[in-house]
Amino acid sequence: MIRNIQRSGILMLIIHSVLLLTASAQHVQNEAISKRSRENFDAGWQFHKGDIAMKRAVKAGKYGGLTDSKVKVITGEDTTIAYSDKNKVAPFKSSDWTMVNLPHDWCVEGAFVHDNTIGSQPAANGYLPVGIGFYRKEFAIPETDKGKKISIEFDGIFRNSTVWLNGHLIGNHQSGYTPSNYDLTDILRYGNEGQNVILVKVDATDYEGWWYEGCGIYRHVWLIKTGKLHVGRFGTYVTTPAVSGSEAVVDIKTTLQNEGKVIKNITLTSKIIDGKGTLLNTQTSTQTITPFNEVEISQKGGIQRPLLWSPESPNLYKILTEVKENGIIIDNYETTFGVRTIEVTNAGVFLNGKLYPIKGTANHQDFAGVGVAVPDKINNYRIKLLKEMGCNGYRSAHNPPTPELLEACDRLGMLVLDENRLLSSTEDGMKDLKALLYRDRNHPSVFMWSLENEEPLQGNITGTRILETMVHITHSIDPTRPVTTAMNHGWNDSGYSDLLDVTGYNYGQRDMQYVKDHEKFPERKMFVTESTSFVSTRGEYEDNREKGYVSNLGNGVGWGMLPGKDWEHIVQYPYLNGMFAWTGFDYRGEPTPYEWPCVTSHFGIMDICGFPKDGYYAYQAAWTNKPVVHVFPHWNWQGKEGQKVKVQGYSNCDEVELFINGRSAGKKQVVPFNRFEWEVEYQPGKLEARGYKAGKAIAKEITETSGAPAQVVLKSDCNVLQADGCDVAIINIAIKDAKGRLVPTANNLVKFTIEGPGRIIGTGNGDPSSHEPDKANQRKAFNGYCQVLVQTDKTAGEIRLKASSEALKSMEAVLITE
Ligand code: GAL
Repeated sequence: MIRNIQRSGILMLIIHSVLLLTASAQHVQNEAISKRSRENFDAGWQFHKGDIAMKRAVKAGKYGGLTDSKVKVITGEDTTIAYSDKNKVAPFKSSDWTMVNLPHDWCVEGAFVHDNTIGSQPAANGYLPVGIGFYRKEFAIPETDKGKKISIEFDGIFRNSTVWLNGHLIGNHQSGYTPSNYDLTDILRYGNEGQNVILVKVDATDYEGWWYEGCGIYRHVWLIKTGKLHVGRFGTYVTTPAVSGSEAVVDIKTTLQNEGKVIKNITLTSKIIDGKGTLLNTQTSTQTITPFNEVEISQKGGIQRPLLWSPESPNLYKILTEVKENGIIIDNYETTFGVRTIEVTNAGVFLNGKLYPIKGTANHQDFAGVGVAVPDKINNYRIKLLKEMGCNGYRSAHNPPTPELLEACDRLGMLVLDENRLLSSTEDGMKDLKALLYRDRNHPSVFMWSLENEEPLQGNITGTRILETMVHITHSIDPTRPVTTAMNHGWNDSGYSDLLDVTGYNYGQRDMQYVKDHEKFPERKMFVTESTSFVSTRGEYEDNREKGYVSNLGNGVGWGMLPGKDWEHIVQYPYLNGMFAWTGFDYRGEPTPYEWPCVTSHFGIMDICGFPKDGYYAYQAAWTNKPVVHVFPHWNWQGKEGQKVKVQGYSNCDEVELFINGRSAGKKQVVPFNRFEWEVEYQPGKLEARGYKAGKAIAKEITETSGAPAQVVLKSDCNVLQADGCDVAIINIAIKDAKGRLVPTANNLVKFTIEGPGRIIGTGNGDPSSHEPDKANQRKAFNGYCQVLVQTDKTAGEIRLKASSEALKSMEAVLITE
């Protein structure tokens, strides 16, 4: 089936362009030879922090237009920053600009300020001031690119970004979470027409959420060059409407755009290849596309004995799209997809036909050292850590994630609840929602859309109307996935939930609302979009308001259950389908229950560096088959000898026995998904927990009272890296005693030196009240640990990262980059 999407006024253009056919023969040739390129455009930007008094150089009336190439954007000192004419390239003062590579978050480079009068919401943003910044890049476009379509794709800028090219205003994009794309073709200078200057103003003074959101061009940027006839932006939609063990039907929809003045007769070939690159199936169609028109072409292919996608076996396939004219490839495009079926029902989620409850965490996007400018490698690292905990689901709270996060989820195996930012059916709101849907609908990892989280209009009549429009659009762009929203009250006021495929419950355990609702509406499909919000500070066992620390031995906040207890409900009430614990990792901002000096949340099952807190083991016990026994606190309580202390634990064994220096302190029956506790007398030495299943000891954990700090021990997540200027080694540092035991209270200052083709891009330690800069060559350990992130340069070689601390033995990591 071929569907023509006629745009208004198109007919006239067709007639016009037929007349022009002969005249543009030369042009046709240019168009024919242009194949797609998608260049990473992250390198070599100049950055200016703060506002610039911008004036346009306007000559009385004559050059007043915003898109006139004579318009300059100038600083107070009358230096040109955006405009360069062909003879005079950027004569601007560069001293107050620094060179940066993207992704970049300038907010995380700032100093913490305890002043509730500045910024839009200081505590929510982790007391890091926001503001305005400018990015500028000079670049050349070769003469040979004349006749191509050239656009720039920003994956994410936080927020309100305005773009100028060579002094021309190109456009503005408000959302800090959806991508923006600008066609630069007409304004670019080609060959000896001169250099190009792109300028981006980022105004992050306003906020979109109540967490740390960062500032700047914090995701990748791409320069995309195609012929005038090309696959559209997010131009393919691949679904597998019928899947069986013997065959998967692959439905391929490809949108082709003809942005040229010439009628085109093309051949579209879609090749299905497997993960090893073996060609499985080829579909070919021919099509005529009139000038300035776009068509969607449908093709149906098949895969014999498909390897299904699941978090356990994330098998991927690709469609290689080729567009040919007169036998010559004029565009090529790649789409990754997976073959799987998933159904959210009122009796459980079924993945590939099997009951598959979702063991999920909700997460914001920032990480230690880098803020929201998260290198791809760190997104991989986070997903791997979650998987090790037994997690199979990720909720991108409360906004569309960066594309590389979804690629990691596809590749590593993690189901995603992909979330839109706002409840909005305005033109901008719809644009953002559509960008999310078109961008992400091929990812096998994405299993459901969430249209909003806890928006104030939830469940009132206006909100319900807005939602109806959004649900309609979502269903029409992607009829294959269910739609939910994450709600924290009401759950169907004004018929809100009736519009949804799945009702999302945040904290539905209060009054057992979700159970009562199931009894009332047994047909309702439900999901625990947010389960517990347990607060704790890694390695802390006493609440300390002054320092802003929350004990792991405590009970958290009123609206959150203990770690792992949330899973009990999913097991007891399978119709709840699955859950997302708030949150997998600590994030900057939303410091709860304390504010300053806290600058980071305490909700994470892991801290902001990915170091596990005690509650981590509750989830690992609940979600994996691995025998888990974990007891806490640490066993360094100098001064408390002979005093009563609490020891708590999480396990998936039947019973756990505790020994202090070899003497049993008694056995505890484990009630699945519940914490257990002893009260014992503290004696330094060895705390040992043994887990038994059917009477047999199957797991143990030993914690010893350590001696004084004696050495710095490094552990890198990898030893060999790519010399691509992007790859990152995540190096965890532990402070140990002379016998190699962790010192769980150590806070020694660790200094880093680096040699070779790499650089330190950030540090962290998981201390939610640390006001040390993340961008530094040193970091204090927090309760025994800190972290340094090392990014490669583009030259291959050997990076030596040394970590030392006064009076302690130092250690060096050797990383090979190739
Ligand atoms: C939820 C909200 C989250 C976070 C959490 C803290 O209600 O959706 O964004 O604020 O509370 O407990």
